[in-house]
Amino acid sequence: MAERAAPVGVMDSGVGGLSVLAEIQRLLPNESLLYVADSGHVPYGEKSPDYIRQRLRHIAGFFHAQGAKAMVLACNTATVAAVADLRELYPNWPLVGMEPAVKPAAAATRSGVVGVLATTGTLQSAKFAALLDRFANDVQVITQPCPGLVERIEAGDLDSPQLRQLLHGYVRPLLDAGCDTLILGCTHYPFLRPLLASMVPADVAIIDTGAAVARQLQRLLAARDLLAEGPARDTAFWTSAEPQSLNDVLPLLWGRADRVLPFPL
Ligand code: DGL
Repeated sequence: MAERAAPVGVMDSGVGGLSVLAEIQRLLPNESLLYVADSGHVPYGEKSPDYIRQRLRHIAGFFHAQGAKAMVLACNTATVAAVADLRELYPNWPLVGMEPAVKPAAAATRSGVVGVLATTGTLQSAKFAALLDRFANDVQVITQPCPGLVERIEAGDLDSPQLRQLLHGYVRPLLDAGCDTLILGCTHYPFLRPLLASMVPADVAIIDTGAAVARQLQRLLAARDLLAEGPARDTAFWTSAEPQSLNDVLPLLWGRADRVLPFPL
């Protein structure tokens, strides 16, 4: 029986999930959080679903061993590849996955054209196809894989000329096609929101799902009477890459430096 004071495990292929971690901490400040950046295996977007499932089994096992009362897959690519597998393995453990915000975008668009920026793995998945079937019948959805963005963000680059050029090349065709709503379908991309906003007309909406994931975690914990009463312990960070590399980008992406431990590969 998990206790209310037990931590919540949050993972991503790298630093992208920090954009979700921030939303969780904002909404649920009493929760103690564990964060695993699988940066030794990033990008997931170009890996096979089988490879990602193996990584997620390993990370879920780690959180379980740490006594986590719930796990958040703060990664769209990991969710499409592995959430069903983890739900089978841990049927009684609250698991929160995430998917591109197609439903709210379809409701919000006025031009009837929506653009999705995401990884190749997410856009090619059956789960994403099912999402479009379910929610995007009345709108045109244009998908744009964005190889290269994740690596830049992992290195703490949110604004270099090379990054601008790369992002511009991905966004231009979506605007030319009449998109008035852009979905950030990868948790790394919210870190590019200021840059992206500077490239698109002011009436183009940019949406992501970090806040919705935090609310879903809140619902799942509340339903099991597992919401923490606080105070939260310090967030613990692990990475499967060199700890110093996460340490270097934490002040930029998380707002402060924190102790980072090596994740047992
Ligand atoms: N942050 C991840 C996502 O939400 C994937 C990035 C990657 O490793 O390719 O899809």
